[in-house]
Amino acid sequence: MTTDSAEAATAVDKTIHNFLHWKADILPHLKVALKADPDFGFGHAVNGLILHGARNIGFRPKIEHALAAAKAVESGMTQRERLYIKALEQAAVGKIADSVAVYETILAHYPTDLLAQRLSQMELFWIGEMRWSAEISGRVASHWNKDVASYGVHLSCRAFDLEETHRFDEAERLGRQAVEIDPTDVWGAHAVAHVLIMQGRYDEGVAWLDGLKHNWADANQMVLHLWWHRCLFHLERGEFDAVLDLYDSWVRNRELPLLKAMPDLYIDMQNGASMLLRLELRGVDVGNRWDELAELTVKRLEDHTSPFTSAHFAVILAATRHFDKAEQLLRSMHEFVLHDTGTLGPRFGVATIPAAEAAIAHRRGEHQRVVDLLMPSRQMLWQMGGSHAQRDLFFLLLADSAHRLGRQDLVSIVLDDIAAAGFTDPAGRIGYRQPAASLH
Ligand SMILES: [Fe+2]
Repeated sequence: MTTDSAEAATAVDKTIHNFLHWKADILPHLKVALKADPDFGFGHAVNGLILHGARNIGFRPKIEHALAAAKAVESGMTQRERLYIKALEQAAVGKIADSVAVYETILAHYPTDLLAQRLSQMELFWIGEMRWSAEISGRVASHWNKDVASYGVHLSCRAFDLEETHRFDEAERLGRQAVEIDPTDVWGAHAVAHVLIMQGRYDEGVAWLDGLKHNWADANQMVLHLWWHRCLFHLERGEFDAVLDLYDSWVRNRELPLLKAMPDLYIDMQNGASMLLRLELRGVDVGNRWDELAELTVKRLEDHTSPFTSAHFAVILAATRHFDKAEQLLRSMHEFVLHDTGTLGPRFGVATIPAAEAAIAHRRGEHQRVVDLLMPSRQMLWQMGGSHAQRDLFFLLLADSAHRLGRQDLVSIVLDDIAAAGFTDPAGRIGYRQPAASLH
């Protein structure tokens, strides 16, 4: 790292270490670094990349400031530092695929650069390109072994790539190995939780997360997503009261420091909307739990930083019958598709907009429209990013509408989709059991 300040270098090192280990304690270290050396270009780049990772349009001025500060001192920096600035420059204008190509270049020269591996996975996950992500982690895997620092983090990243590309056995093995190396590794715990939900191992899922929950005190928002995963296991077992308890005490507990600091972080908004809708599809009264989500969503209608999150914004607005705001969101997304020159615009067009319209139509009871929207777009929904387990929400809506219309022919197709997404027993799952039963 190019800086004359040892204090600044140590603080950025700590920032990166904590970021890689899913700790919440990130920004104070960056502040220390940039105070010690205000011309620390790589420090500014890391700051910009972390802010970009929060996927919030409100951070754009800060990201642009960080990028400008980094570029101002670029000429004295190493080639690798300059590549990080280039990745930030691309990401900041929505050229996500371009930024990933930069990370691939870094990894070609420095295959154990864990920051590049991790950032490329984050970017690719949120545009649905997990095959690409698995290629990247597969390419660097031979350079890793237990003697390389933070080996477990490489394993947990690799495990999730393998899970999302349906190599479940290896994913589970590596995820468990990562957690053995470091019990606080929430990303390894997460990869295994995904394997367990895909394979219908709900009791094991509850036991797995219950056994690890004491290790998460310093973790970032990923811990709340793990509680969301735990809700999924209880939901499948029909334990709706347990889901509501965990929702209130963890997933959307606004008193938790994580949610106090940033109540509308994209992953937390997804967790909330997704779990409430799943409960309602099972006939559970969720009371006024949608309201706080809606209050946060109405401020984000013009935010197009995350295609998958915007689809959840539509879910929230429809659930609270803010149909005018939902229309505003749709108009804003259409406008974005027309003018965006980056990676995300087309994804809003083929995936987010139909998913959002379908969520709105479902809430209005327009089941034919849900079918008309999702049957042609369902094979493109992966492009809005997220995991198979998360995108399942929109297939649940499609199955529900097809079932209500008495369209057994379509239910049968959707069950094939769910199997293709990697779920072991689609017809046995709680959201598909009833539609599946109508086939006999
Ligand atoms: Fe997940």
